[in-house]
Amino acid sequence: MRLLEAFRGTAIQLPNRIAMAPMTRGRADDTTGVPHPMTAEYYAQRASAGLIVSEGVWIDQAGKSGPGIPGLVTAQHAEAWRQVTEAVHEKGGRIFAQLWHAGRVAHPGVTGRTPVAPSAVRQAGRIFSAEGWTDTVEPRALGEEEVGEVVRDFAGAARRAVEAGFDGVELHGANGYLIQQFLAGNTNRREDRYGGSVAARLAFPLEVVAAVVEQVGAAKVALRISPGNPENDIVEDDGKEVYSRLLAELRRYELAYLHVIDTPDTEALSYLRPLWPGTLVANLRSEEPTSREEGELLIGSGLADVVAFGRLFIANPDLPTRFALDAPLARADHDVYYGARLDGYTDFPAFDPDPAKFACSARS
Ligand SMILES: Cc1cc2nc3c(=O)[nH]c(=O)nc-3n(C[C@H](O)[C@H](O)[C@H](O)COP(=O)(O)O)c2cc1C
Repeated sequence: MRLLEAFRGTAIQLPNRIAMAPMTRGRADDTTGVPHPMTAEYYAQRASAGLIVSEGVWIDQAGKSGPGIPGLVTAQHAEAWRQVTEAVHEKGGRIFAQLWHAGRVAHPGVTGRTPVAPSAVRQAGRIFSAEGWTDTVEPRALGEEEVGEVVRDFAGAARRAVEAGFDGVELHGANGYLIQQFLAGNTNRREDRYGGSVAARLAFPLEVVAAVVEQVGAAKVALRISPGNPENDIVEDDGKEVYSRLLAELRRYELAYLHVIDTPDTEALSYLRPLWPGTLVANLRSEEPTSREEGELLIGSGLADVVAFGRLFIANPDLPTRFALDAPLARADHDVYYGARLDGYTDFPAFDPDPAKFACSARS
């Protein structure tokens, strides 16, 4: 099975090609943003993944997009993350921190502040806040100097991440959050050096990459993108041009990897893979979780070097072993995906080949 083969990239070497996709689980202390003590065990249980990408971690309180999301701003955050990285390393794993600013997909009910964005364009639909599903609010457009502050916040969080033992950082440029809000024409209506033309819309994401690379080195930096993904009310009419130019600019760095979320509608991998000679991690977004068969096809076709699996890792902490043994896969109820509850987090058992001891859908 190709997924189980080792991967040797320029910057990252992995024992298999199975990554754990970043997944918010909402278990952190909602007041402080400090990860829950059980978070170390949760990730350590999943250390047989070739690479773990952590849940999105806010780089500034204003960019926190929902209850119970952890941060990486204070010494207390860093100390709690150190427990996580040490636990993963002890089990032989590797873990990148996903650095996240939600931009307009934040809510005063969660952050206590008016959300910020490239432009004052309110997101259609509702978002998840402390009070449950809530109407979005109109964000405030960041001033030019404030954009620079956010760039510095990304760089500061990257430094803290590496100091806390993370093997690198993945910048969250996907799913309609702040970085993608600068890239997309419907959310970026600026007419300064951060908007107005495709080149200007690329400026903020490229400044973030440059600042983070300067701080921790390109080999520890990755970027996640979801070209054409309409999530969180994004419209990318000229997405092909935007992302092709973005990759042309990024090729100057030997980044750890580029992480591309693809869907049957966007077909991003087919036009981006030829433009990206470096390591490419792919993830598929659809109703059903990315499957082993889809992963094999992505590797076999050369569209990806590594495949990220999200939902399957929630209930199958030992996913590579299950793939290897063709073992049954457990399913997690959607109810346990997010929230302060502690069941449905570290209590999914590893596969036991003795059928008498193992019930596929049960938690211990
Ligand atoms: C519970 C949950 C939380 C998620 N949180 C994040 C996140 O913090 N950052 C991110 O980039 N994607 C996040 N995603 C998206 C996943 O990384 C992935 O793209 C998606 O689940 C599709 O992959 P899958 O089919 O293998 O599950 C999340 C998905 C789920 C199910």
